[in-house]
Order: sequence, then structure tokens, then C-alpha cells
Amino acid sequence: MLVAPSILSADFGKLQSEIKAICDAGCDFVHVDVMDGHFVPNLTIGPVVVSAAVKVSSKPLDIHLMVQNNTFFTELFAPLKPKYLSFHIEEEKHPHRLIQKIKSFGISPAIVLNPHTPPKSIEYILEELDMVLLMSVNPGFGGQSFIPSTLKKIDILRKMIDDAGLKTLIEVDGGINDKNIHSLKSAGADIIVAGNYIFSSPSYKNAIDSLRI
Ligand code: DX5
Ligand code: ZN
Repeated sequence: MLVAPSILSADFGKLQSEIKAICDAGCDFVHVDVMDGHFVPNLTIGPVVVSAAVKVSSKPLDIHLMVQNNTFFTELFAPLKPKYLSFHIEEEKHPHRLIQKIKSFGISPAIVLNPHTPPKSIEYILEELDMVLLMSVNPGFGGQSFIPSTLKKIDILRKMIDDAGLKTLIEVDGGINDKNIHSLKSAGADIIVAGNYIFSSPSYKNAIDSLRI
């Protein structure tokens, strides 16, 4: 299991040292939650702050857009050269076009599904994706409780990916800790995002290790 700590739960007053700490603790990606105050009722950070903060990062970026204007934000964050850039299917009328744009920047495209959005909604676009991100909470805030029906969705998506002979990764985001990580693993998740669990732990390394099962 690959682990991507969400810096949403980090101490924003010392973002650089928090990012360095999770990289030193052995995370695989640095998950950055971009919220615009429209698609979700919260506002986070833009590319100026993110590019300054991640100068100390030794791990690739995993940028999760929770915004209304995906094309605008894609162009804004592309210069940061993340490994993954993910956008919500609920907010995109032309996902194929946006995926082409993300690929043109040399970035791996991913689509995010809110907890109520069925995997079938991306059936005809799955082969274009390097990753699918399943939200296991309603996006907008850290520290919420895991929604159990996500497990069934992971299972369905895993079958869709395997049946199509694809290598698309499944990432799960929200309410993940050392208690539910085993069920996520058996359902077929490849990468997990965890914010509150890691950043509220006295040892980032122990927390990350407990998720890497
Ligand atoms: C929620 C974000 C998540 C969140 C995860 O909108 O996309 O990345 O920060 O945080 P926890 O692990 O605290 O649920
Ligand atoms: Zn996220």
C-alpha cells in the first residue's frame, strides 16, 4: 500500500518543515488538497504557497482539485509538475478534453468520485486514466468519518479495471486510519490518503508505517 499524507491536516504555520517531516518519515506522495470555496465549502492554498512549501519535498506531488473551473486550476498548477493531478467528475462537462490537457503537460491524469458517484460514471473514460480517486468522505474538510459503502465501490472499480486489463491505480481519500486500513487493502486499494490520522500522531513514521500493510 502506498501512502500519501494530506497536508490539509498539517500545521500551515510551518508547512515546509511539516512536508520535510512526512518525506523523511517515508511517505510515497505529498497529497495537496486544492479547494476553491465553490465546489466545496472551504478554501485552501494556491500555487504560490504550494510551490514555496514543496521546495523541501523529496517525494512527488499528488494534487487533488476540488474546484469549479478545472481547466483554469490545471493550468495554474501544471508548472509544479505533480505526478498526479486529479479532478472531480461531478464538476467536469468535458473530461476527455481535460485529460488530454493534463497529459500534454506530462502529468498523470486522475478522476475523483464523490461518495455517492457510481464507478459506472467513468466506464468510458477509465482507459485514459492512470488513477481513480474514490472519496470516502464528502470533500472539503479533514478529520471526518470514513463512509463504509466506499468498500463496495473499491470492489466494483477493481473488477472494472481488472476486467479491462488496465493498470489504473485506485486511491482512497478520507477518514482512513490503522483500524480501517485492512478492509481497504482487501477491497483492492493501491494508494491511501490520510490527513488527520498521520498529522495528529506523535510519530509520523509510526503512523505511515501502520498504513503501509
Ligand atoms: C478532504 C480531502 C482529504 C482529507 C483527508 O476533502 O480531500 O484529502 O484532507 O483527511 P482525513 O484523513 O483527515 O480524512
Ligand atoms: Zn484529498
